Amino acid sequence: MKTVLITGASGNLGKAAVEKFTSEGYHIIATVSPGKALGFDVGNNVTTAAVDMSNEKDVESLINTISATQSIDAALLLVGGYASGSIKDTDEKALEKMFSLNFHTTYFAARAIFAQMTRQKQGGRIIFVGARPALSAQVGKSSLAYGLSKSLIFKLAEYLNAEGADQNIVSHVIVPSIIDTPQNRAAMPKANFSDWVKPEEIANAMVTLCSEGSSSFRETILKIYNRS
Ligand SMILES: NC(=O)c1ccc[n+]([C@@H]2O[C@H](COP(=O)([O-])OP(=O)(O)OC[C@H]3O[C@@H](n4cnc5c(N)ncnc54)[C@H](OP(=O)(O)O)[C@@H]3O)[C@@H](O)[C@H]2O)c1
Repeated sequence: MKTVLITGASGNLGKAAVEKFTSEGYHIIATVSPGKALGFDVGNNVTTAAVDMSNEKDVESLINTISATQSIDAALLLVGGYASGSIKDTDEKALEKMFSLNFHTTYFAARAIFAQMTRQKQGGRIIFVGARPALSAQVGKSSLAYGLSKSLIFKLAEYLNAEGADQNIVSHVIVPSIIDTPQNRAAMPKANFSDWVKPEEIANAMVTLCSEGSSSFRETILKIYNRS
């Protein structure tokens, strides 16, 4: 049975990913914030770990504990969050908040997981979540700190692909537009929700990227925009 580590598992995308990878027969290690629970029913193949993903030592310790008994075939690094604000609103505190939430949480996990994957004969797959503001200045100028923090995710994936190429360690970046979540519906009640992307569609894409049938895929940047 293959093991997938899913960070941010209690979130909108996390729930869809846990459910999809469970249905595909994976063993899931699902991380949640300390003191929090997944918040939905899962089967026996899901192990929950409470870790602050912005704490480097705690993240390393989690990955070392997992690695002592099993390999990590794939990792979905889903922790992240949005903040609006143009350059005039973005001071050091705003920058640091987004860098911690989007980049540090991802970097700490990726670093420890990558080290583990180099010790595995089969290598592994790491899936990152980017965002359109990092790719489009017209969109990103009004969520500057978010866009900057997410732009590093693309660069990190590129570096890890260069580093891991000989060992079958491949990083892909998923780029959703607006995900159809209760929070987005509440924030944009007049939008046409059917233009957005369902978390389940993104979860399907992540399963595909981790499957044997996609073993030749390299350095994918997968834009899942629907009509938004
Ligand atoms: N929603 C969108 O429209 C959209 C669009 C493009 C990209 N994305 C990206 O897609 C990813 C998932 O989005 P989502 O809508 O599923 O977000 P979400 O529902 O807010 O889920 C994020 C998850 O990360 C967890 N988390 C946050 N900080 C953490 C920390 N320090 N340690 C451990 N866990 C932490 C949260 O747990 P707690 O809340 O319990 O702390 C939550 O479960 C994010 O990277 C986001 O930037 C989202």
